[in-house]
Amino acid sequence: MKSLYVANWKMNMSLSKAHNFVHEANLTSWQNHNAQLIICPQFPLIYPIQHAINNTDIAMGAQNCAATESGAYTGEVSATLLAELKCRFTIIGHSERRTIFSETNHDVAQKALQLLAHDIVPIICVGETAQEYQAQQTHQVIEQQLAAICQAIAPLPTIKKIVIAYEPVWAIGTGKTPDNKTISDVCNMIKKYLSTELKNVQQLALLYGGSVDPISAAELKKISLLNGFLIGGASLDFQKFKNIVVC
Ligand code: PGA
Repeated sequence: MKSLYVANWKMNMSLSKAHNFVHEANLTSWQNHNAQLIICPQFPLIYPIQHAINNTDIAMGAQNCAATESGAYTGEVSATLLAELKCRFTIIGHSERRTIFSETNHDVAQKALQLLAHDIVPIICVGETAQEYQAQQTHQVIEQQLAAICQAIAPLPTIKKIVIAYEPVWAIGTGKTPDNKTISDVCNMIKKYLSTELKNVQQLALLYGGSVDPISAAELKKISLLNGFLIGGASLDFQKFKNIVVC
């Protein structure tokens, strides 16, 4: 399986900066790095970026989708439309969505169903807050987050691929990262939990996210259970992003 490098641009990047980034990325041969690059911009940037990366090895992604199929949901973006725009991946359940926009585990599960129905790979974010980390509740919190998803998607006949991104909330944008053993233990727990709860998933990829930069990535790449990274701040600068891929 190729390693996944997911650029979560959040609510950053202008149209011209996005064009420059994609131009630089297209000049590089990613096939050599055994890496799958996935760019997740703000919604209005999806169409122009998809146009620019068409026929390249870079994949299009989104940062969110609606929990319902279509209809009177002002401001929402459907998985149907994301599929039409050739988004192959979509991040759901990011901690910023959970805290700022009050998304529940149930909402995230409904979004996963929408994406899978449209053949889009969900990148499902899970992770504990600083308080939960200190109270040693990490595994318990993640199990609760996964339980709602499993309950929703377990009845599907087959699921080609899902991606789980472990992002401790306290590590996002803070420059802090857990040690490799902590991340390995969480990966092991997620793998075990999903192999018991889901019999229909053909491929599972595990990512880590939270202050990944070229320096921390070199250390994090020693974690054998990881299949890649979800990168926020460092994905806005193409050189930094590339250094994470090649380090
Ligand atoms: P960060 O963000 O790399 O800036 O910490 C990661 C994320 O929120 O997905």
